[in-house]
Amino acid sequence: MNAEKRPWWQRIRWISAFLRFLGVWKSPESTKSATEPEPLPEQGLQGNMLGKSSKRSKRIAIVSPKGGVGKTTVTANLSEALVGRGRRVCAVDLDAQNALQFHLSADPVKPEGLASATLRSEPWSETLRKGVEGLRFLPFGFLSEKHREQFEQTVVDGPAWLADGLSTVDHKQTDYTVFDTPPGPSEFQRAAVEMADLVIVVVLPDAASFITVPTVERTIESYAGQKANEFAGLYFLLNRMNEGRVLCRDVRAMLADRLGDRLVPETIRFDAAAEEALAAQQTVMAYEPDGRAATDFDGLAAWVEQTLK
Ligand SMILES: Nc1ncnc2c1ncn2[C@@H]1O[C@H](COP(=O)(O)OP(=O)(O)OP(=O)(O)O)[C@@H](O)[C@H]1O
Ligand SMILES: [Mg+2]
Repeated sequence: MNAEKRPWWQRIRWISAFLRFLGVWKSPESTKSATEPEPLPEQGLQGNMLGKSSKRSKRIAIVSPKGGVGKTTVTANLSEALVGRGRRVCAVDLDAQNALQFHLSADPVKPEGLASATLRSEPWSETLRKGVEGLRFLPFGFLSEKHREQFEQTVVDGPAWLADGLSTVDHKQTDYTVFDTPPGPSEFQRAAVEMADLVIVVVLPDAASFITVPTVERTIESYAGQKANEFAGLYFLLNRMNEGRVLCRDVRAMLADRLGDRLVPETIRFDAAAEEALAAQQTVMAYEPDGRAATDFDGLAAWVEQTLK
């Protein structure tokens, strides 16, 4: 549905959510909490934490060599699509931009997240938040500049920080864990790839994405190299596909030729509803469940289930 045709009450919510997102308008609760992070004790992660479980969820890392290609959109919508298929999902934001929470919840933003919990040596379960029924998510959270530097050092120093943090979240309630990552190579991308059963590289149907393929293959394979052999593999997902454009069709054909069956057979089509959904602090699965992108994300979820069977 076009934004102009939506009822007035939905458009008001859309506009206020968008203003809140931009920081132009803040609700009273969010103003204090988002701008004034609590002081943190000066300590690092202390080894293993509580609640380890032997049964673990299937893990999916969503990565890309370039920014703005749709990683967070894919993380949020794949998570909700898996929930729509009866799965229990935990989405994890490993990007300091903190965008994932704006897709998954319209609740006021809080500064707490996995970063502050790690620095305080607190269990991540304390910062776990609820999305739709069946979906939980871990926001990255907001840190002062000093604490951000401390956290990045912790990540570099202790490669187990992600496994340790996740071990505090009850895996019996989770079938799939989906990691959103920052663009390009980083310790966060490395940590997600090292833990993943499946790595999905999001690419756009353009020349700029195509030329990054060899580099990203080398980076991800070097990160994944140290992992056990249950790794289902490295796949590329085409997002924002426009069938009407010759260039998009050509790049898709070149990617298929170059990647073979490592190109995910499901493609996410360009859909303006995906952009509107973020402005309304919703996934496109919730915003326009019968739309193009929502249909494609459901297809992607079915492919993920099949691939990680
Ligand atoms: N299939 C799609 N159709 C239309 N717009 C889309 C689609 N997928 C993503 N977008 C839009 O593209 C923009 C970038 O998406 P997103 O924030 O998910 O990218 P990202 O890779 O996570 O960015 P970053 O590298 O900054 O983390 C957003 O405005 C989003 O709404
Ligand atoms: Mg992102």
